[in-house]
Amino acid sequence: MVTIAEVEHVISPQRLDELLHGNRKLFIVDVRNNEEFQQRRIEGRGLPDPIHVQYFELMDADEDDLAAPVATYAKEHWKGRIPSDSLVICVCGKGDTSEFVAEGLRRVGYDAVNLAGGMAAWGDYYAIRLAAEAGAVTVHQVVRPARGCLSYIVASQGEMVVIDPLRHVAQYTTFAQEHGLRIVAVIDTHGHADHISGGARLARDLDVPYYMHPYDAIHPIDVLPATISFRWMGDGFEIPVGATAIRAIHTPGHTLGNMVLLADGRYLFSGDTTFIHSIARPDLGGRGEGWAGLHHESLTRIMKLGDEITVFPGHYSRPQEADAEGLFRATLGELRRGNEGLGMVARGRDAFVHYILSELPEFPEQYVDIKRVNAGLLTPDEEKASELELGRNLCALSGACKESG
Ligand SMILES: [Fe+2]
Repeated sequence: MVTIAEVEHVISPQRLDELLHGNRKLFIVDVRNNEEFQQRRIEGRGLPDPIHVQYFELMDADEDDLAAPVATYAKEHWKGRIPSDSLVICVCGKGDTSEFVAEGLRRVGYDAVNLAGGMAAWGDYYAIRLAAEAGAVTVHQVVRPARGCLSYIVASQGEMVVIDPLRHVAQYTTFAQEHGLRIVAVIDTHGHADHISGGARLARDLDVPYYMHPYDAIHPIDVLPATISFRWMGDGFEIPVGATAIRAIHTPGHTLGNMVLLADGRYLFSGDTTFIHSIARPDLGGRGEGWAGLHHESLTRIMKLGDEITVFPGHYSRPQEADAEGLFRATLGELRRGNEGLGMVARGRDAFVHYILSELPEFPEQYVDIKRVNAGLLTPDEEKASELELGRNLCALSGACKESG
């Protein structure tokens, strides 16, 4: 279906998300600089590799008509490379220069649109999807596609709890308003390193409890106490929501205060303990060797839960990890069969530790600062916050990336 926006040759991040989950063939032309392109790009199931050319390579300093040199370049270099039956999405940093790229492509016959707001807008875009419903309990999955970050809304009988809220907290309060729900608690499964948590702020704004394990209120590298206010959450602690409750299970390894949360006895919010295709890395606190053994014990404990339990992870590495409905979830039984890292747990602690230490991806330096922000030890402005959150999520072992291509 062609929308009015597409007739106007521009699409919103939301429309792009819909298209990425639809059947229409898409093709991306990205004109950002090399560094930005390497840090983050638009991904989707079945999306072919994009064309990437830096915008200045398309420009002609003598030409006032900015689309004209793009049309010439496209005829000379992209004939046969851009499928003629695809909708071409043109992307730049903020959506301004890519407008001329889209226009140039249209002049030579392509069906091309500009992504409004460019990658900056895509980076701040969130989708909220109903992910489970049973009895009086619903689970919504909040997806930040540009980062591969997931957070969750558990609701029951007019109350809701937010798990691992992401930085832009208005989406949770808006959701609560639109659904007639009252946010009664906010939980972080652990002190995040890959993204700035919205947990402390959301709880403070609403004057509701913000729960986390006290071990994660100490910065692991600085060994300094957090300045944010939070409520203690230990093993077995229960947080009621409507007709049900969320039970915390202490699972150290990824962090010392790492928790998984079992809601309604059937939904396991695994945070960064296990993902769909991979498991978490234990080295982001600077103590990979020491914490890998703890990770093994924790995963062993999780594996003892029933096969029918639905696991909702805190991240994904590739869009291909989503199921047919576009949701990132799997039963524990499915993970037992298809998750390489979980498969290694049964081989014993030593083999597991060896495996995990040999699969560690690069250590992203900005993660140390992100943990500082989440502990309240550093207060970045919006620009700095966005900069810290650039790039792919690297909380998982590299196996996830290899496995899903
Ligand atoms: Fe994490």
